[in-house]
Amino acid sequence: MRQKIVAGNWKMNKTLEEANILASEVTGMVADEVKGDAKVIFCVPFPYLLPIKNQLGNNARISVGAQNCSEHESGAYTGEVSAPMLKSMGIPYVILGHSERRQYFGEDGKLLAKKVDVALKHGLSPIFCCGEPLEVREANTHEALVKKQVEEGLFHLNADALKKVVIAYEPVWAIGTGKTASAQQAQDMHAVIRTHLASKYGQAVADTIIILYGGSVNAANAKELFSCPDVDGGLVGGASLKSRDFTEVIKGA
Ligand code: PGA
Repeated sequence: MRQKIVAGNWKMNKTLEEANILASEVTGMVADEVKGDAKVIFCVPFPYLLPIKNQLGNNARISVGAQNCSEHESGAYTGEVSAPMLKSMGIPYVILGHSERRQYFGEDGKLLAKKVDVALKHGLSPIFCCGEPLEVREANTHEALVKKQVEEGLFHLNADALKKVVIAYEPVWAIGTGKTASAQQAQDMHAVIRTHLASKYGQAVADTIIILYGGSVNAANAKELFSCPDVDGGLVGGASLKSRDFTEVIKGA
């Protein structure tokens, strides 16, 4: 049985005070209401990593993640944050290759492979994102593109390293649009990704890899999406910014 994970991607939202309130409300609701053993991750802006981590204390179910890190380990890279820095703060997860990073910051497969390596070298688990834009889906070449993104970012890893990676399939046309993939579309692509992993690493390894779905996951659709056999939880943007909504999403896992 793969661990279910529900990760909230707060993106560039909330003041520190709002962030503290959101984290504390979700923590309380999860403790009071959520059964099961789904793991929850708050992927927060860099300045909030330590305050939120400290607020959580040693909460067994909820941890924090960063939304990006540099491909460099240290040096003259003004404004960047490195994997060793995150490690030194006790941060276990880092999102890499989110479509907004690919689209607005020009991150490509080669760069992301470096970021994956530096994260793993310093003991962080990457949440590696892939997913096709609308025109690629419409041209019916989405499976080929997503397979290529997974190859470029991850296929240089050995099996032990790959097992530390969480994959998030996020169709770009579903991110922040309110237009979610159907459960069938999500399941189909997750199965394609898992089969592709199996072709390189063998079925036994592929079966251990956690693959999250992201793109307009909300309280109403989470349960159906998360009950697909190859969907192991979600990476959630908008709905992670409201404590009640996010708690309902977590209940779906
Ligand atoms: P959304 O964002 O849930 O707001 O669509 C998901 C994401 O970008 O990770």
